[in-house]
Amino acid sequence: MSKHKDSSEHRGSKKHSGAKKPKKDDGACEVTKGRVRSHFLDGETGPWAKKLAAGPTTDEASDPDEQTLRPAHRQGPDYSVPSSIDIVADPVLHAISTRRSISKLDPETPNDSDLRELIHAVSSVADHKGLKPWRFIIIRGDDRIRLGKALDDAGEVHRKAGEINAKPLRAELLLALVASPQDNPKVPEWEQHATAAGAGHLLELALWQAGWGVMWRSGNLTNAPAVRRLHRLKDKELLMGWLYIGAVPERYRQRLAHSTRPLPDPDQFLDTL
Ligand SMILES: Cc1cc2nc3c(=O)[nH]c(=O)nc-3n(C[C@H](O)[C@H](O)[C@H](O)COP(=O)(O)O)c2cc1C
Repeated sequence: MSKHKDSSEHRGSKKHSGAKKPKKDDGACEVTKGRVRSHFLDGETGPWAKKLAAGPTTDEASDPDEQTLRPAHRQGPDYSVPSSIDIVADPVLHAISTRRSISKLDPETPNDSDLRELIHAVSSVADHKGLKPWRFIIIRGDDRIRLGKALDDAGEVHRKAGEINAKPLRAELLLALVASPQDNPKVPEWEQHATAAGAGHLLELALWQAGWGVMWRSGNLTNAPAVRRLHRLKDKELLMGWLYIGAVPERYRQRLAHSTRPLPDPDQFLDTL
């Protein structure tokens, strides 16, 4: 299957070590960089750069919380040294920053050997004490109908004979993510849930980078007894939803190539004490 993009277009570009990035990348890469940079990250003209240059807004300056909770020495992040990181030229950062969920998927899916390789890669997820508190369950074919039935049972939905809950049929392949915490005096359960969620996010990204479409879905009934039973969860385990996986439809690939979805302003995610 074809990928979302030609990754060679990124490999051709050099990683810059200095603060100023020379504009000498050739052809397609330059086009991609120009397009993505103008929409996603422009250190000189992006909205957050403008905000920084303008200083605090009147609201921020007069906010009593800002004045009472922040000590006088508090400066916020120091952006005076420009970054040498290039989220467009670096293929990993580019994949992270352009990833998106695909809700309507074509039927082709990765095979189980592909899944094994991808899971091998994401098992590097940060994991306190290496407890490996996560696992995935493959759901294909009629197992999706069994999942629909379990969701119906959990929601006390009664259908006419022959009707089924079609929600799990929105993709040919679902991967259930299970957080599987262990008793450990040094690693509370929430940390192990964080590791499991990290494995889910890494796998979403790994699938995306391998050319597949993914959407993480859950719902109010995810951990209802009937659904837990179907997945054979142990008492302490938590079902964290399902990755719906398939091929990215061609029409959507073309839209992706001209995407203008901006990334949010990073300043909202970064501060100092
Ligand atoms: C744990 C988890 C559960 C989610 N469950 C649902 C869901 O049930 N339905 C849904 O529409 N989106 C769900 N989402 C959000 C989508 O996966 C997706 O992130 C969202 O639509 C935004 O699209 P984007 O990933 O392209 O930014 C869930 C995300 C996470 C991390």
